[in-house]
Amino acid sequence: MNMDTKHAPIGIFDSGVGGLTVMREIMRLLPNERLVYFGDTARVPYGSKSRDTIIRFSRQIVHFLHTKQVKAIVIACNTASAYALETLRREIPEPIIGVVKPGAKTAVSVTKNGRVGIIGTEGTIKSQVYSDYIHELNPELTVIGRACPLFVPLVEEGLLHDAVTDEIAGRYLDGLKRENIDTLILGCTHYPLLRSTIGRIMGDQVKLVNPAYETAVELRDMLAKQDLLHTGLSEPTRDAYQFYVSDDASRFRSFADSILPFSIDCTVQIPIEEYEAQ
Ligand code: DGL
Repeated sequence: MNMDTKHAPIGIFDSGVGGLTVMREIMRLLPNERLVYFGDTARVPYGSKSRDTIIRFSRQIVHFLHTKQVKAIVIACNTASAYALETLRREIPEPIIGVVKPGAKTAVSVTKNGRVGIIGTEGTIKSQVYSDYIHELNPELTVIGRACPLFVPLVEEGLLHDAVTDEIAGRYLDGLKRENIDTLILGCTHYPLLRSTIGRIMGDQVKLVNPAYETAVELRDMLAKQDLLHTGLSEPTRDAYQFYVSDDASRFRSFADSILPFSIDCTVQIPIEEYEAQ
């Protein structure tokens, strides 16, 4: 591996702002890496869209990231990881990982009673990808999925600690509580931001798994194994991070400011539909 490849950026993409929860973990764990983030803010949400549509969108985004000479790609979106990861992996030369496998792997190692819950978008739950991965690792486990479609808009409205969110979370999680799970995967980019509400409702006996953190760990291990880690000793600077979106950047910026440890002044809007895969 030559030096230039090691110093190339990592591409991270999501349907919108939520993937910044994954980017935040990658920034913490891999402070020397340069990162290019793309949020598909014009076409969010992915959670209610079909497999074909999500694969088409993801291909365009990967094509855009290729123009940035990325050395690896992280699909930060659970829904896109569920539907597009395996297809993209067959189509592109550089390593690509999603958030589903790292979250599933951790849940398998954490559960004691063999009963794992997973919450996510309708698409993620319908795809059954989390339970497929979990059963590949341990066919004995029981996996119970629950779609929580209102969590994304609640988070994007900033209602992280609000009676409305408590009420809706209570309704969504009530059935899972009665299933006697001891592990719950937060299978959507936005859900780590509701961690305290979800944790309070589920109780201390249920361990919450955050795939965003687990993905950062998997990325570090994968880059190390392929000799792709940035070896420089440079301190992280803001210039190391680039942000692109498909719709007006101002809403993205204000949400990003509430998640990232610094404010994003330079976010560029790009015409993502023009990046057809060649
Ligand atoms: N990023 C999506 C996910 O993690 C949530 C938002 C959406 O539906 O696009 O599944």
